[in-house]
Amino acid sequence: MMVQIQHNVSLKPFNTFGIEVQTSAFTSIKTVSDLRELIHAGTLQSSHMFLGGGSNVLFTKDFNGLVIKNECKGIYITKEDNRHIWITAGSGEVWHDLVMFTVTRGLGGIENMSLIPGTVGAAPMQNIGAYGVELTNVFEQLTAIDLLTGEEVLFNHEMCAFGYRESVFKHQLKGKYFIADVTLRLSKYPELQINYGAIKQVLAERGIVEPTIKDISDAVIYIRQSKLPNPVVLGNAGSFFKNPEIAVEQYDELKQLYPTIPGYPTTPNKIKVPAGWLIEQCGWKGKIVGHTGAHKDQALVLVNYGGASGNEILALSKEIQQSILAKFNIAISPEVNII
Ligand code: EPU
Repeated sequence: MMVQIQHNVSLKPFNTFGIEVQTSAFTSIKTVSDLRELIHAGTLQSSHMFLGGGSNVLFTKDFNGLVIKNECKGIYITKEDNRHIWITAGSGEVWHDLVMFTVTRGLGGIENMSLIPGTVGAAPMQNIGAYGVELTNVFEQLTAIDLLTGEEVLFNHEMCAFGYRESVFKHQLKGKYFIADVTLRLSKYPELQINYGAIKQVLAERGIVEPTIKDISDAVIYIRQSKLPNPVVLGNAGSFFKNPEIAVEQYDELKQLYPTIPGYPTTPNKIKVPAGWLIEQCGWKGKIVGHTGAHKDQALVLVNYGGASGNEILALSKEIQQSILAKFNIAISPEVNII
C-alpha cells in the first residue's frame, strides 16, 4: 500500500466548526491512483467519508470508519476560443485559490463567488453560490470516479441536475462517486453581475463606475469579511440553513403581518425568504446559548464560541427551526451536512 492510514485521529483541524471529534481511521489522497488503490483494496466497502475543506459539516459524534481527505490538486487551462477559456481544477483545490487564478487573469464568471470556503469538489456537489451567481452558471463538466469499480465517468451539465444548493450527488448518486476534477467555462468578455445591492453599494463607495473583474472580487471579499465570521477565529460553517421557498399566498399573508419581510420570486408561484431574516425576527441574532449562538452580523451563521459540541449546535439549530415554524409556519432545513 502506498496510501498510509492513521488511527484515532482528531478531526478538529479538519472541520471549520472546530468540533473536537475523533475518527477511527484517516488518510489523504493526492491522486485518482491513490483513490483506486483504496477501491481495489476493498477499503471503501466499510464505513468511510470524503472530506474536502470541512467547511460544510457538523460532526455530532466520533466517526467510526475511514475519513479520506481530498488533496487532489492542480489548475489547468484546458481549452480556449475567441470568447472563452476552459479551466479544469482538481477537486481538492481550495475554491478561493481557483477564483484568484481566474481573477488575476481577467477571466470572468466566478468573481462573485470569491472567498466561499471549501474545495473545488464540493462546489458542484451543492451548487455553491453567492451574490447573484451560482456554479451552474459556469459549469462545463466534471470527472467522477465510480467508487465500486474505479472507472472514470464524465458528467455534463444536465447530468448534474443542479438546483438551489442541490445536485444529483446529494440525492440519487449520493455516496456513489468521487468528484476528481471540475471544468468551468470562463469568459474573456464577461457580463458582470453587479445587481446585488451590497456589491453596488461598495462599488459606489469606492467611486468605481466601470468595474473590472478584480473590483468585483475585491468588493465581494470586503462584504464577506465585514459580515461573515472568519472560521479561523470563530468556528462556523457559513450559512447553517438554506433559504426556504414558500408559496406566494403564504408570503402575501405574512407581508400583511410583517411588512418588512424580504422575498425573492424564484418560480411564478414561489418566493424565497432569507432564513437570516426569519432567525433574526425570532430573537436569535447575536444571542449566545452555552458555547454557541447565531452570529451578531449574520443570523444564518451558527458559531462555535469555543468548546461547543456538535450536539450543542445541533440542539440550537432545532430550537431555531421550531421557533420559526411556530412564528411563521415556515420549515427551514440545514444546509450543512450533519454527521
Ligand atoms: N438578513 C437579516 N438578518 C440577518 C441576515 C440576513 O435580516 O441576520 C436579511 C438581509 O437583510 C437581506 C437578506 O436577509 O435582506 C439576505 O441576506 P444576505 O445577503 O446576507 O444573504 P443570505 O440569503 O442570508 C445567501 C447565501 C450565502 C451567500 C449570500 C450572498 C444561502 C443559504 N446563503 O445568504 O451563502 O454568501 O447569500 O449571496 O443561500 C453559504 O451558503 O454558506 C453562504 C454563506
